[in-house]
Amino acid sequence: MKKFLLMVALGLGWSVLASAQVSVNEGRFQKGDNPAWSQAAFNDSDWPVLSLEKDWNKQGYKISNGFGWYRIHVVIPSSLKRGSTDKVLLDLGPIDDCDETWFNGTRIGKTGTTPEDPEGYASDWDSPRRYVVEPKLVKWDKENVIAVRVYNGGDPGGFFERPAFITKPSLEDFVSLKLERKDGQYQAVLHSKVPSRGLVKVVTKEVLSDQVVRENQWKTTVSPRTDVAFCVNMQGQQRVEVTFTDDKFGETLAASVAAPYILTPPAPATPRYNGPLVFGVRPGSPVIFRLAFSGEKPMKYAVEGLPKGVTLDPDKGVLSGSVAEKGDYPLVLIARNAKGETRAEFTLKVGDKIALTPPMGWNSWNCWGLSVSQEKVMSSAAALINRGLADYGYSYMNIDDAWEAEERAPDGRIVTNEKFPDIKALGDWLHSNGLKMGIYSSPGDRTCGGYLGTLDHEWQDAETWNEWGVDYLKYDWCGYSRVFNPDRDHSVAAYARPYMKMQQYLRQQPRDIFYSLCQYGMADVWTWGHAVDANSWRTTGDITDTWASLYDIGFKRQVGLHPYAGPGHWNDPDMLVVGKVGWSDNLRDSRLTPDEQYTHISLWSLLAANMLIGCDIAQIDDFTFNLLCNNEVNAVNQDILGHQAHMDLDEDGVQTWSRDLYDGGIAVGIFNLNEATLPVDLAGALAKIGLEDVVKVRDLWRQKDIPMGLYHIAPHGVLYLKVTVK
Ligand code: GLA
Repeated sequence: MKKFLLMVALGLGWSVLASAQVSVNEGRFQKGDNPAWSQAAFNDSDWPVLSLEKDWNKQGYKISNGFGWYRIHVVIPSSLKRGSTDKVLLDLGPIDDCDETWFNGTRIGKTGTTPEDPEGYASDWDSPRRYVVEPKLVKWDKENVIAVRVYNGGDPGGFFERPAFITKPSLEDFVSLKLERKDGQYQAVLHSKVPSRGLVKVVTKEVLSDQVVRENQWKTTVSPRTDVAFCVNMQGQQRVEVTFTDDKFGETLAASVAAPYILTPPAPATPRYNGPLVFGVRPGSPVIFRLAFSGEKPMKYAVEGLPKGVTLDPDKGVLSGSVAEKGDYPLVLIARNAKGETRAEFTLKVGDKIALTPPMGWNSWNCWGLSVSQEKVMSSAAALINRGLADYGYSYMNIDDAWEAEERAPDGRIVTNEKFPDIKALGDWLHSNGLKMGIYSSPGDRTCGGYLGTLDHEWQDAETWNEWGVDYLKYDWCGYSRVFNPDRDHSVAAYARPYMKMQQYLRQQPRDIFYSLCQYGMADVWTWGHAVDANSWRTTGDITDTWASLYDIGFKRQVGLHPYAGPGHWNDPDMLVVGKVGWSDNLRDSRLTPDEQYTHISLWSLLAANMLIGCDIAQIDDFTFNLLCNNEVNAVNQDILGHQAHMDLDEDGVQTWSRDLYDGGIAVGIFNLNEATLPVDLAGALAKIGLEDVVKVRDLWRQKDIPMGLYHIAPHGVLYLKVTVK
């Protein structure tokens, strides 16, 4: 205690909070690197004292690509001892960029790697350092020395965010409980770093009523390095809650997951047309169109009324060729299989406008991130066809960032890196199957992922992409922020300039290239995107697979944007986050609950949003297929009026969005943004948004007409309807 008072008197900032943790906000500091500084006995009394809450640059030091050491002195009170384990947890917070840490002279951990490590330098500046300290290293009620060797790459460097904490570890520092999906089944997995024994409880509940359906509990022992796993069963719209209460800690870990329940009825075996009713192509541009019929395969296709220059592959159902004359060409699309024949009316519109309905397809970013490769694109493309997603109109296969080589060819041409050995062959394969190829670049010198951008090569890149057979360009602002100076000129013209320039070159190519602006909604892009002849523009920053992100991007930021969308030009609230995503080689199931995923797809359908699947299609499961391939839900997205939905009501966490459809119907989404189930009197809810004299209500997910009455919407869930009024 005397020491404690002495330290405070010396001004070294540490304190004991409610005896559960010690916090330290200062340490002694030295520039350079010396192994002797790791030792507890080293005399650092002449080292200056630095705050741990500000980086070292802010405190007068600049060390780029070099080392600095902190030595933190702290008394650890025995009140931090915990009955079952005397270990303590050292939580240093984030450190910019890499650290190696010693506790009273013993090395206890390392985060990030330095250039002298065999794997080379890798910054880990933003993850909190949490190191468990063995009891034998701790001097209770005495001074302890924590020595931290920090390597900094780019400025700034060092501790920067908050004090370091020394706490009692809690159960979750030793034991983890996870619910994982394996072969369509959920299993709970307990893993422990120390021998542990405790009570497992498994409760299955109905999502809507919160009623308990089943309850089970038993004692279990978890040995270090041996997982304990057990299956959990759910049916329909149920949720399972698993807890583990450790005997010694007396603490409980909890995990819960909801069943991915399927609403979309299976498609009939007879052919059914699920594609758009129109397709726009410019005179002379290649027609690339795949007839989207579900039903039993094999299927034979025919088309009545084909204009001169266009041919049909009757086995694949792929239209190709080109039409010289502008005009509307009414066609009848026909598919035949062992179960029957179906005919669908359709119009090929040869004119100045493309993208008459929002683009449907896939993009590599939300699944593979920078690890995308030609092989991965091919695998998703093959699955798009084999798993039947192409039968629902998904056709663009868009390669996002990380296809670019490190340098341009000597003549300035952009080239692919080794992950894309033959991009032209990929384009040819896609086209021969009626699919389209998309690519990504930036008007800046670099892309967001740090790859080569297009700056000063606009004409050359447009030509190269045409040669490769590119049908879609996502043009991402990113590196252009280095060229752009908003202080000098932040007019709309300045924001539009790089996009204008590229569009001019794209339009000179002899093929239709969907032009997708990606600049996160700056300068209200929706008000001028059409003026640069863009086909869509991102309205927000990047989406991720959390409710917070979905709420912000899908609901909050779309309010009032409906007047700006229409055939040929769409608001783009970013790509889909259902299925297996991960932005890297490590894919995981979307973290959105099943109800949140229904909400996501319903909302994108209402918003006439780009429907770009963001998961690995090769790994698509039945639930995700049910989300992406509901022909009635997709028909709203592809409706030829192209009216984006508007928010009609926002009351007590309930939002109602609606849009008019070309057949006179009205698509209505009633969204429950609350954490609790919402009872809805259907007639009342529709009357509230002015829909009276209702003659028919169809539940689009279940594809059946429903009567007026009381319905329940799950937390973060939706009732998605098509309403017909007198
Ligand atoms: C930005 C875009 C993303 C993706 C990445 C690629 O963040 O908004 O959609 O294209 O760049 O680096």
